[in-house]
Amino acid sequence: MSALQLNILKLVDEKGQIENTLDVPVLAKEDPNTSLHSALTSLWAKEMINFKKLETEKWILTEEAKDIVAHGSHEFRLLEEVLKNLDGLKISDVNSKLGAVGKLGQGKAFKNGWVGKDGDKLVAKVTELPSADPAVVSLKEVEQTGSLPDKKELAELKKRKLVQLTKIVGYEITKAAKFATTITNLETDITSEMIASGSWKDANFKPYNFQSEGVYPNSGALHPLNKVREEFRQIFFSMGFTEMPANQYVESGFWNFDTLYVPQQHPARDLQDTFYLKDPARAKLPEDKEYLENIKQVHENGKYGSIGYRYPWKEEESLRMVLRTHSTAISSAMLHKLADDPKPIRLFSIDRVFRNEAVDATHLAEFHQIEGVLAGYDITLGDLIGFMEDFFAKMGVHGLRFKAAYNPYTEPSMEIFAYHKGLGKWVEIGNSGMFRPEMLESMGLPKNLRVLGWGLSLERPTMIKYGVSNIRELLGHKVSLDFIETNPAARLDEDLV
Ligand code: PHE
Repeated sequence: MSALQLNILKLVDEKGQIENTLDVPVLAKEDPNTSLHSALTSLWAKEMINFKKLETEKWILTEEAKDIVAHGSHEFRLLEEVLKNLDGLKISDVNSKLGAVGKLGQGKAFKNGWVGKDGDKLVAKVTELPSADPAVVSLKEVEQTGSLPDKKELAELKKRKLVQLTKIVGYEITKAAKFATTITNLETDITSEMIASGSWKDANFKPYNFQSEGVYPNSGALHPLNKVREEFRQIFFSMGFTEMPANQYVESGFWNFDTLYVPQQHPARDLQDTFYLKDPARAKLPEDKEYLENIKQVHENGKYGSIGYRYPWKEEESLRMVLRTHSTAISSAMLHKLADDPKPIRLFSIDRVFRNEAVDATHLAEFHQIEGVLAGYDITLGDLIGFMEDFFAKMGVHGLRFKAAYNPYTEPSMEIFAYHKGLGKWVEIGNSGMFRPEMLESMGLPKNLRVLGWGLSLERPTMIKYGVSNIRELLGHKVSLDFIETNPAARLDEDLV
């Protein structure tokens, strides 16, 4: 409870009400927008007073005008000087005697009929100084009343930059229901002691403030990658896809590479590109021995109409353990299962993959892959293109372009491009292809059950969506918690690419 608040209550009590705080000197000197306003608001919250803002306009003096009030107007001071010189004041002496005042005062002194010109001199046209300086009289009136009755004169003072209009705020204050001259602190909570002692019956409680914004509750927040992931999942579900169990980060080289017809000398299998595990260093042999044999044959000499890679395939190499480099390892295992009961199917996964890459602003050694595979009888490259157009259209991306590419496990393979309006260029948004017979027939899938697949990164659309340019601000120790807690829900729409 401040002294100001008590003062306000005392004044309202004495006067019955205050029509305008500007008329009450102790209140008029308070800042109406800060101290006075907060004192009034807190009394109002206690239902002791009501108050209303009153805005009025008032003319006030500029610095120059204040100087005139203190020292006289330029024209008055000029006349004073001219009168001192009975023979008149040489125009060339005005500056040395009066400085800028002389120059500024001349026009008005002529206009007032106070001085005239005689050759190179200024001469007085009146015999003595007027009893009062008219400009000072007017300015003093403005200072006291905030205006002048003569609007023309006021306009002239404004033109001379001596007065300016300002807004001033005052308040009307009236008594409210709980008005008193002292303030009792209001209870904000009912406590167990109050109930036990019965003091709650006479206690004064602070009314609820329904305008209050309240405290933001602490709550968890989904990471942007999770939000975008969820959007993609919904798109997959809406197109009849089932989610693959992809929560297994460690794979054997067999599933990650060999089943996908990636030759054992392929650069992707290099230490430079792939993380190998030390412990356990070896995977168990796959249970399906026939499948293992098919893989060996198709790599070494070819099978199912293929001539193979013609190199000695080593079981050793296929049993090395790796952090999976793509989720296609999971797709391969799922397709192998499909061979038990071959039929058209749609599968997807969105999960983490690892690559032994140099880390920079847009690459980490791990990322999330969005992958889809679709099996159908006699489907062709045309189906793949059409399907990609439908899939990306679901997130507002139209007008795709396809470019021939290479994957060991698909033929043909295509990179997918979309025009990025923000960047003003075509960007690669995915990789796709028709899985090779070397891969599918080794599993025992019928020749005419063809499978198309595609993959893209989850990070890329997320970074575009949330305007993140450095991947380390999206994932890892540089991520700001505030960014995670305040970012909006993801909607995949036109601005994705
Ligand atoms: N595995 C591919 C990649 O890592 C994506 C892909 C999946 C391509 C399925 C074709 C078919 O980029």
